[in-house]
Amino acid sequence: MTDRAGPPGISFQDLLDEDLREQSGRPGLALCQAWQGLGLADIRGDSVERLLEIGIEDAALEVRFLLQHVLQPDSLNLALHDPALVSWQRVAHFADLLTARLNRKPLSQILGSQPFWTLDLAVTPDVLTPRADTEALVEAVLARLGDEEAQILDLGTGSGAILLALLNERPALRGLGVDLSSAALAVAGQNAARTGLSERADFIEGRWGAALESGRFDILVSNPPYITREVLAGLEPEVRDHEPTIALDGGSDGLEAYRDIIADIPRLLVPGGLFALEIGYDQASSVRALTAAAGLVDIEVICDLGGNDRVVLGHNPR
Ligand SMILES: C[S@@+](CC[C@H](N)C(=O)[O-])C[C@H]1O[C@@H](n2cnc3c(N)ncnc32)[C@H](O)[C@@H]1O
Repeated sequence: MTDRAGPPGISFQDLLDEDLREQSGRPGLALCQAWQGLGLADIRGDSVERLLEIGIEDAALEVRFLLQHVLQPDSLNLALHDPALVSWQRVAHFADLLTARLNRKPLSQILGSQPFWTLDLAVTPDVLTPRADTEALVEAVLARLGDEEAQILDLGTGSGAILLALLNERPALRGLGVDLSSAALAVAGQNAARTGLSERADFIEGRWGAALESGRFDILVSNPPYITREVLAGLEPEVRDHEPTIALDGGSDGLEAYRDIIADIPRLLVPGGLFALEIGYDQASSVRALTAAAGLVDIEVICDLGGNDRVVLGHNPR
């Protein structure tokens, strides 16, 4: 297939059979066939309907993001007004991406990135897509931090989201991200480079705080896996089938990771050091009790923007 835009006045959607034959094997072939003879505006409308049919509420917004992703650097509006600007390769690419979305692949994994706090982070199937809920933890920690030098530890760093968001806000912070998944750590390293924070962020593979020296950190943050196995099975396919189980599975009661992490907090933090743990909406009392039993003090529970309990934080005794 040539990179052929139709001449002005003739829709680029005049897809020839020979063009379609060249696309055999592409995931989006069936959509290309369905769209033969349609203009870009109609393709957009059909795409929105298909996503709505499978229950994706933000269908119009998602189609806009996918089209913008494919049409870069051309603007979507320009392309809608002048279809001659868009080649069939672009439409076929869009058909591939929409097919992935219809198969419930998360939008973030299709686009390859996700905004988090002030950053735009790379996302792959090896990491949890950073969530808006987690920004409540970033905000709570920043509210308690000055501009002084400090060492921060992020246990279960995944994409590096929490660590990098904090480092980006406070130039005197340095940090270490730990994860059991080497594939996730590769993404975290990529994100540190992408955000210009590599010089202040290190990453190591390991099991929570097990291999780390005592009393080394001023701040400890973690968003551990906290979904019970029972709930996990009933989650939407985007999460259940496409996000890494290691990032979600909190064991039979959702608290397994907290038990391991909290047992190590008094040892890892300096006296008076700050810890902040993301929690599930119904875990505040259990996690608060675990932190109190470990001898941690000044314990608070912070809500997210939806009003759900989302963060348990406190200090190591002085
Ligand atoms: C819920 S995700 C959080 C990712 C990221 N911090 C965020 O907030 O978006 C939990 C992370 O913990 C990691 N993890 C799971 N078990 C671990 C363990 N035993 N030791 C270290 N990391 C672990 C997973 O690989 C995953 O990246």
